[in-house]
Amino acid sequence: MLNYLGDKKDERMKMRNRYRKSTALRCDAGSRCLISVVIGSLMGCILLLNLYSAIRPADEIGQHIHLRTSHHLHFPELEEVEEENIQIPPPRKRSPRATKRRPKKTTTLIDEFLDEDSQIRHKFFPDQKTSIDPMITGNDSMFYYPGRVWLDTEGNPIQAHGGGVLFDERSETYYWYGEYKDGPTYHAHKKGAARVDIIGVGCYSSKDLWTWKNEGIVLTAEETDETHDLHKSNVLERPKVIYNSRTRKYVMWMHIDDVNYTKASVGVAISDYPTGPFDYLYSKRPHGCDSRDMTIFKDDDGTAYLIYSSEDNSELHVGSLSEDYLDVTNVARRILIGQHREAPALFKHQGTYYMVTSGCTGWAPNEALTHAAESIMGPWETMGNPCMGGNKMFRLATFFSQSTFVLPVPSYPNLFIFMADRWNPADLRDSRYLWLPLMVGGLVDEPLDYNFGFPLWSRVSIYWHRKWRLPQGWNSLK
Ligand code: GAL
Repeated sequence: MLNYLGDKKDERMKMRNRYRKSTALRCDAGSRCLISVVIGSLMGCILLLNLYSAIRPADEIGQHIHLRTSHHLHFPELEEVEEENIQIPPPRKRSPRATKRRPKKTTTLIDEFLDEDSQIRHKFFPDQKTSIDPMITGNDSMFYYPGRVWLDTEGNPIQAHGGGVLFDERSETYYWYGEYKDGPTYHAHKKGAARVDIIGVGCYSSKDLWTWKNEGIVLTAEETDETHDLHKSNVLERPKVIYNSRTRKYVMWMHIDDVNYTKASVGVAISDYPTGPFDYLYSKRPHGCDSRDMTIFKDDDGTAYLIYSSEDNSELHVGSLSEDYLDVTNVARRILIGQHREAPALFKHQGTYYMVTSGCTGWAPNEALTHAAESIMGPWETMGNPCMGGNKMFRLATFFSQSTFVLPVPSYPNLFIFMADRWNPADLRDSRYLWLPLMVGGLVDEPLDYNFGFPLWSRVSIYWHRKWRLPQGWNSLK
């Protein structure tokens, strides 16, 4: 494993060599011959199979896909591809003089999304009147409406941005933690990103993943001490909580930064209860590296990992946490080097690790990608865009949102909830949540590096829906 104290260039060389070595076989002269025969026959088989797949009829390919995925449950309603047909409005009338001075550029849906005054703003940020209110039960009970305002049990919009969900086995309750951003949006500098002062980490509890009770701010900002990491003038983003069964503590990790995003650190807080209050412990640069967007992931064996964007967001690092989850160890790897990804959301399916990430364009939406790996420490391979439905622009903009977490749905091994933020940089507190079904199954679209053109991993698909709900009874099957 890579110890971070090593020199970067050296590491790059080592990584290259490692990959080379892993494909080279060591053997004596006799076995070399046998190996040539084996490799020869293998290549023959691969050639024949490739030839076969090139000439077989299309319906057989369909059957093939079906066979491969038959051990997966299907959710026809959720897998339906729902189209969106949002028309870009005609340009506003301008005087001939204004047109001559600055000819009107054609706009894209992303420009419209980012334009506060767009005529189609309500398509992206539906009016308060359309809020989801779980206290008014009716025909719409349990339905998610991605992008609409989502109210808690007291009728207030949920404030849990850049968040994640913990299922607490002890209380059989879900806890949703996220950035509490219910304050004014402003720019600290002309060129700085839109921001809201730190208020703290919001926590909401639920038994059904739809009705959320506000449990209050479980980690609060520091009002007076300007040297404190949590001073309101700083940045606290993407908080995530996991439970440590050895220490019986709830451990929160988060991105801690200064107003200019130069501190680039992670912060750690701890509590005896999922609803806090959390005690803030410290911040650091993990492995001595800058760390911005991040997440944590607890594996089946209880080992937890920190995954963070580093080297100015040009790559991700993955490293294991100490047994008490309060620090990183020196076991870490650089992954997706040079790919410029952030907002990592990691999950595991049948022993394979998957991760959805975004590109790096601040609050503006961009194209999501899925990555997969046999070992969490890598190598990780990029598989492509998981988004299905909507329209092309929707898919290229992750439905106008950015990944934050992937939550497994109990009892359905290939069904997950993709949690994302639809940021509203003009008024960050009014940023919306997109929860959408994510499914693992079927063949990947693009040939991958390590597999001679054969799919090693299943496709990850996130389906766009204007309205959807989890399969009925999902909760009782737990
Ligand atoms: C995004 C990042 C958010 C926030 C934002 C600030 O790229 O994912 O968490 O940091 O930039 O502009």
